Amino acid sequence: MKGSRDRVLVTGGAGFLGSHLCESLVDVGCEVLCVDNFYTGRRQNLAHLLSNPRFELIRHDITFPLYVEVDAIYNLACPASPIHYQFDPVQTTKTSVHGAINMLGLAKRVKAKILQASTSEVYGDPEIHPQPETYWGRVNPIGARSCYDEGKRCAETLFFDYYRQHGLDIKVARIFNTYGPRMHPNDGRVVSNFIVQALRGDAITIYGDGSQTRSFCYVDDLVDAMMRLMTTEPGFTGPVNIGNPTEFTVLQLAQLVLRLTGSSSSLQFRELPSDDPRQRQPDIGIARTHLGWEPRVSLEEGLRRTIGYFAGVI
Ligand SMILES: NC(=O)c1ccc[n+]([C@@H]2O[C@H](COP(=O)([O-])OP(=O)(O)OC[C@H]3O[C@@H](n4cnc5c(N)ncnc54)[C@H](O)[C@@H]3O)[C@@H](O)[C@H]2O)c1
Repeated sequence: MKGSRDRVLVTGGAGFLGSHLCESLVDVGCEVLCVDNFYTGRRQNLAHLLSNPRFELIRHDITFPLYVEVDAIYNLACPASPIHYQFDPVQTTKTSVHGAINMLGLAKRVKAKILQASTSEVYGDPEIHPQPETYWGRVNPIGARSCYDEGKRCAETLFFDYYRQHGLDIKVARIFNTYGPRMHPNDGRVVSNFIVQALRGDAITIYGDGSQTRSFCYVDDLVDAMMRLMTTEPGFTGPVNIGNPTEFTVLQLAQLVLRLTGSSSSLQFRELPSDDPRQRQPDIGIARTHLGWEPRVSLEEGLRRTIGYFAGVI
C-alpha cells in the first residue's frame, strides 16, 4: 500500500477510525471503497473525500454478503463504544461474526488480503499487565459486554481458521483505546466524554474513584500501524497489539483535559459499571519489531488536536 493503485475495501469506513484510515489510504494513492450502514458512522466524517475520484462510499450492512473486486480489505465495521454496542447486542455479535464470515468469504473469492480490527477487549479483565498477544484473556461470556468481547474473539477465531484452512493472507490488529477528532460526542467513551463535558462546563463524570488506568493512542498513530501491518509479508498474521503503552489513571486524564480546555468543571464520581476493566495496557513489543512502529503523538498533543475538533462541532 505504498503509493500503489491497490483497490482497498474499508468496512465501517464512515466511523471514527475508518474515516481517518480512508483518508490516509486515498493519500497514498489507493482506490478506496468504503462500506458502512451508518449505524454509528456519519457521512460528514467523509465529506472531504466524497468528490475524490479515488474514493467511493456504499451503504451496506456487512451481515449480508458483498460482491466487489478488491485487493485488500480492512474490516472495521462494528459499533465500538459500550453505549452503542449494548444498544442492540444481538446485532453487535452478528456484525462481528456474520460480518467476519462475509468479509473472509469475499477475501477468499477475490484472493484479497484482509485485516481485522480486533480489540484489547479480547483480554477481558486481565490478570497480567501489560498484556502480550500470547495472553488468552479473562472474559465473561454472559455479561453485558460479552456481545462485543466474545463477538470479536469469535471473529479472530474465524480469521485464523480461514488462514489455516484456506491459506488466506490475514492480519489481526488488537486495538487499544484510541482517540482523536471525529469520535462521537455522545458515545460515552472516556476521552470524548471528558472533553465535551469540560467544553460545556458540565461536571466531569468519573466512574469509580478514577484510579483505574487506561492507555490512549492517538488516531494517526493507529492508522499508521494498521497500514504497516497490512504491508507485512504473507504469513505474518499477528495478532499484534496496537496502542500506546503509556498508562494514565482516569483521574489524571480528567485533570489534563481540565487544564488544556481551561475549564472550571467540577469532578463527579459515580458507581463503576459491571465488567469495567481495572487496568489496560498494551505490550507493543511485536509492533515495534515487526512493524517498526511505535506511537509518536503524546497524550497532551493528541488531546489538544481533539479538543480543537470538538470545540468546532459541539
Ligand atoms: N476506537 C477505539 O478505541 C477502538 C478500540 C478497539 C477496537 N476498535 C475497533 O475499531 C473499529 C472501528 O471503531 P471506531 O472507534 O471507529 O467505531 P465507530 O463506531 O466510529 O465505527 C464503526 C463503524 O462501523 C459501522 N458499522 C457498524 N455495524 C455495521 C454493519 N453491520 N455493517 C456496516 N457497517 C457497520 C458504523 O456505522 C461505523 O461507521 C471497530 O471494529 C472497533 O471494534 C476501536
